[in-house]
Amino acid sequence: MNDLLSLKQAFLDDLSAVSDITDLQQLKAKYTGRKGLVTAQLKALSTVPPEERPLFGKAVNELKLFVDQTIDQKEESLKDIEKQKRLHAEKIDITLPGKPSHAGRFHPLNRVLQEIKDIFVSMGFGIEEGPEVELDYYNFEALNIPRHHPARDMQDTFYVSDDVVLRTHTSPVQVRVMEKKRPPLKIIAPGKVYRCDADISHTPMFHQVEGLMVDAGISFSDLKGVLELFIQSFFGKDTPVRFRPSYFPFTEPSAEVDIGCIFCTGKGCRVCKTTGWLEVMGCGMVNPKVFEMSGYSSDEYTGFAFGMGVERLTMLKYAIDDIRLFYENDLRFLRQF
Ligand code: DAH
Repeated sequence: MNDLLSLKQAFLDDLSAVSDITDLQQLKAKYTGRKGLVTAQLKALSTVPPEERPLFGKAVNELKLFVDQTIDQKEESLKDIEKQKRLHAEKIDITLPGKPSHAGRFHPLNRVLQEIKDIFVSMGFGIEEGPEVELDYYNFEALNIPRHHPARDMQDTFYVSDDVVLRTHTSPVQVRVMEKKRPPLKIIAPGKVYRCDADISHTPMFHQVEGLMVDAGISFSDLKGVLELFIQSFFGKDTPVRFRPSYFPFTEPSAEVDIGCIFCTGKGCRVCKTTGWLEVMGCGMVNPKVFEMSGYSSDEYTGFAFGMGVERLTMLKYAIDDIRLFYENDLRFLRQF
């Protein structure tokens, strides 16, 4: 019995030195493992004289139970301490300054292009595309631009070969669409165009949006209605609009569309060259010769066409005075949109 008491004391002494789970496992093996000290006492029960056995047996079993429970409790508390330590080590200091992320945004030209498309799509126009490397035939011939026309000059047009050019405008898409589809037609054709030109208002590549509406009975008043609605959606409801007679080989009659100068509200300034008006696009009734070359009967159908420069519209809308800013990728400029 005395052995049991000193065994319990030895266990408690060992226990007080345990500081982690590994220590505890060793302690467990030492006392209640297969060759453990308490296990040995249990085994020794059979060698105890029969009259002492009940008392000794009870005491050994109590000791075994005490050791098991104590080890279980210690295990719980050690696990708890380790969990606290881990949580502490994993703690995130949310007061540290974060890493700023720079969100991208649309280039001003893409924004304006999207806005132009949205306005025409809301009026029921579809969107068409054509190639940027274009046949001379579609870029000039089929648009009634004769051989001697100045636009065909090597100074203005990038020639790929004798009969292939980088398109100088989006108008060839008109012809390509008319060759494929029958009226009624109501489309716009946005895209890149190329001209051999560079200064503060010209770049060798720029963007246009072409428009074409063809059906029986389309008149100049339809043209005026559509373009006025477009301009007032784009520049504001009270923007003055005027149609000024002009000339394009592919339209007859032709006009330039002007808006009241948005910088001086018509009083006259440097931007509008004191006229009070700004030119924003070309337009006109489709020339019957263009219809005939595209395979449409000019007796049956009439239509109108228009073409606008996306850079120019963007410069006017945001008062940008140098076209090259669009292509320099200067973030100080781009972040303003
Ligand atoms: N293609 C012309 C240009 O690049 C713009 C233009 C004018 C297009 C009148 C048209 C139009 O469709 O009717 O200068």
